[in-house]
Amino acid sequence: MSPRVICLGSVVADHVFRLSEVPQPPAKAVARSYHVNLGGLAGNAAVAVARLGGRAVFWGRVGADENGAALAARLAEEGVDAAALRRMPGARTPVSAVLVDRTGERVTVAYRGEGLATDPAWLPLASLADAAAVLTDPRWPEGAEATLVAARARGVPSVLDAEKSEARILHALVPLAGHTIFSTPGLGIFAPGVPLAEGLRRAVAAGAAVAAVTRGEQGVVWLTRDDPTPRSLPAFPIEARDTTGAGDVFHGAYALAIAEGQAVAAAMRFASAAGALRAQDAETPRRDAVDAMLRA
Ligand SMILES: Nc1ncnc2c1ncn2[C@@H]1O[C@H](COP(=O)(O)OP(=O)(O)OP(=O)(O)O)[C@@H](O)[C@H]1O
Ligand SMILES: [Mg+2]
Repeated sequence: MSPRVICLGSVVADHVFRLSEVPQPPAKAVARSYHVNLGGLAGNAAVAVARLGGRAVFWGRVGADENGAALAARLAEEGVDAAALRRMPGARTPVSAVLVDRTGERVTVAYRGEGLATDPAWLPLASLADAAAVLTDPRWPEGAEATLVAARARGVPSVLDAEKSEARILHALVPLAGHTIFSTPGLGIFAPGVPLAEGLRRAVAAGAAVAAVTRGEQGVVWLTRDDPTPRSLPAFPIEARDTTGAGDVFHGAYALAIAEGQAVAAAMRFASAAGALRAQDAETPRRDAVDAMLRA
């Protein structure tokens, strides 16, 4: 039976407009195409878990509006269990407008939603009993905190996507997670003005067993509580088409690898391959593609 991975945090409806050129205001441009993508850190991670062969579960909040309904449907299509995607009455779903020009450069306007109640009391924490790992992001700190604390109490491995957010949120969540994987801006907020390795050591000192930072095409640097020597894993060489979401896919793949019982070094490689394929294809990869990249 494939392992169950719970992903808690943000899911966003990305409204993507492709046009030849992003105009300067005042202007009115005509899009060459339009589609709605599922985005958000934990949302992308959950889809990655499902495509890579895990049983993905999403916990989070949207509004009781059209965008929320569309996201619930998309998660279901991807095989993600979204029974605990709560559609909150009177609330509005996070959305973004993404303008992509001919060369792939993009302008993104993000709306974080409104009226999304923060109290996590409704989360089905008892179902952590049959989870093999949890992944949380910082976009719903109250939910992440409740989930990380409950996961620790039950001995379930946990991963934090320590992405750019307020410093106080990162300082509250890092001590609660087993594996903290920062984005480069996230680490800069958690430990400003110090070398990467020192920032990672501070995360370990705060309570993480594993601390890592993703650096786009420069790969990943990580260390552990047991071995504080930083290790560097170069990125897989690819031709990047669109790096949006590569970090989210990295985190989902890493959480699945940990859920499968892979060692940390192997999990980092697996996640790097998944992130690289996402950047190369602008599409979350399936397991066979990741395995092929790992063999090559
Ligand atoms: N251009 C690339 N070439 C190869 N691998 C990449 C590339 N971009 C990303 N990756 C892989 O994905 C991982 C995560 O990417 P990155 O550090 O850009 O995440 P991020 O800053 O969180 O971005 P986002 O959240 O927007 O996806 C990298 O550590 C790397 O393994
Ligand atoms: Mg990221």
